[in-house]
Amino acid sequence: SMSLTFLGIESSCDDTAAAVVRDDGTILSSVVAGQTELHADFGGVVPEIAARAHAEKLDICVERALSDAGLSLSELDGIAVTAGPGLIGGVLSGVMLAKGLAVGTGLPLVGVNHLAGHALTPRLTDHVEYPYLMLLVSGGHCQFLSVRGPEDFTRLGGTIDDAPGEAFDKVAKLLGLPQPGGPAVEDAARRGNPKRFALPRPLLDRPGCDMSFSGLKTAVLRQRDELVAAQGGLHEQDRDDICAGFQAAVADVLAEKTRRALAAAPAPVLAVAGGVAANQTLRAALKAVAAKAGAEFIAPPLRLCTDNAAMIAWAGIEAFNAGQRDGMDLAARPRWPL
Ligand code: KG4
Ligand code: ZN
Repeated sequence: SMSLTFLGIESSCDDTAAAVVRDDGTILSSVVAGQTELHADFGGVVPEIAARAHAEKLDICVERALSDAGLSLSELDGIAVTAGPGLIGGVLSGVMLAKGLAVGTGLPLVGVNHLAGHALTPRLTDHVEYPYLMLLVSGGHCQFLSVRGPEDFTRLGGTIDDAPGEAFDKVAKLLGLPQPGGPAVEDAARRGNPKRFALPRPLLDRPGCDMSFSGLKTAVLRQRDELVAAQGGLHEQDRDDICAGFQAAVADVLAEKTRRALAAAPAPVLAVAGGVAANQTLRAALKAVAAKAGAEFIAPPLRLCTDNAAMIAWAGIEAFNAGQRDGMDLAARPRWPL
């Protein structure tokens, strides 16, 4: 059969992205324009600033993705776009551009759930077969998904409050480390003693796969304040030890809940996605859990773990092959559970 080539468009959070991907998994191009600097002074993503930046950069990213791939619009077979969940201004920018391109070219349009994009990434990168267990851990998401088909996901549990990446970012802020907090905390933790401070393992005593990370952040705050009150400040070693203790607690919780998820939905593969999947301590813990359950552990390359448009193009191809076609009534959805 003929091969398919899709353009993917992503603008649901703070990365503007476009990519061209073939149905054999070849990524012909993948352009990601981040906005970290734009939001740096605000301690989080500012929706209005994000929406404006997406509107300004989306067309440029699409043009770059096409020229990097060496293709013109007329050589594509479809256009996939993130239609939610996410910040509505950004999602709308992407959906409107995709509709315009679809009308102008006559190409099929496929609206993609951002979470499905992450969840299907191991099929793009490693040709993983269904079914598999996906742990999605990022700054905005934390959930276990049993993936059985391009439109067949079962959520086995997730965070009831903060996402782990959010907790890493907040802990970094509490300790005066730079953003994004994940890499900074991981780096400090390398020099720290994870056993010095006894931090909680929230919800481990309760059955099921739900998780909580906000109490952990509060425990870090309390530990910091205690040290500051006792010694007038925080030594570098204190900071490193807190980071190591925090990271160990997050890894312990995620590992034990992953063990339970694999027991509830046995699968030959455990895959991860999301920015937090970059964490080496977490990866090692998950690898061990997978090995014990007789499952293969798969972590896509980091640039495909974090937000990108190649995963959207790929999820679009899979949905297209399953028969999905969207029209001009495709809605941009701020909330869209899988
Ligand atoms: O997937 P992602 O790029 O964006 C979304 O949240 O959608 O994930 C970003 C998150 C941030 O919270 C960042 O601090 C975290 O992933 N992160 C890490 C590491 N690298 C990035 N967390 C822990 N360890 C890391 N090495
Ligand atoms: Zn994401």
